[in-house]
Amino acid sequence: RAQDAAAGEKVFTKCKVCHVADQDTNKIGPSLHGVIGRTAGTHPDFKYSEAMIAAGKSGVKWDEPTLTTYLHDPKAMIKGTKMVFPGLKKDEDIANVIAYLKQFSQ
Ligand code: HEM
Repeated sequence: RAQDAAAGEKVFTKCKVCHVADQDTNKIGPSLHGVIGRTAGTHPDFKYSEAMIAAGKSGVKWDEPTLTTYLHDPKAMIKGTKMVFPGLKKDEDIANVIAYLKQFSQ
């Protein structure tokens, strides 16, 4: 919903140091443009951790359930991820930021 995406854009300020969503540009983290439906660790021009590449090879694909788990506690889901971010505590913030990311995915 549009309203959730607007709230999610505010949540995304926490991600912006490292990620861009509205363009296919990598920063400290991979571009999140088109991330919904993408297999973990597969942006062609980004140098991921071995852990993220292994997650993708084991079948992790970014959708609502997997992103919810990851954003709640990144290092708990992907042990060895180089994403230095403690996670989002509020379920509502997670749902809203996913709604925001959906705007830039198929
Ligand atoms: C990876 C989302 C905050 C740095 C990822 C991935 C997602 C994501 C979905 C996996 C992408 C893929 O497999 O292509 C988010 C969201 C954030 C956030 C929604 C805010 C709520 C941050 C911050 C940083 C960061 C603040 C930097 C301090 C990274 C890095 C990776 C990554 C370096 C690659 C991890 C690896 O290869 O193990 N992020 N992120 N992220 N993110 Fe974030």
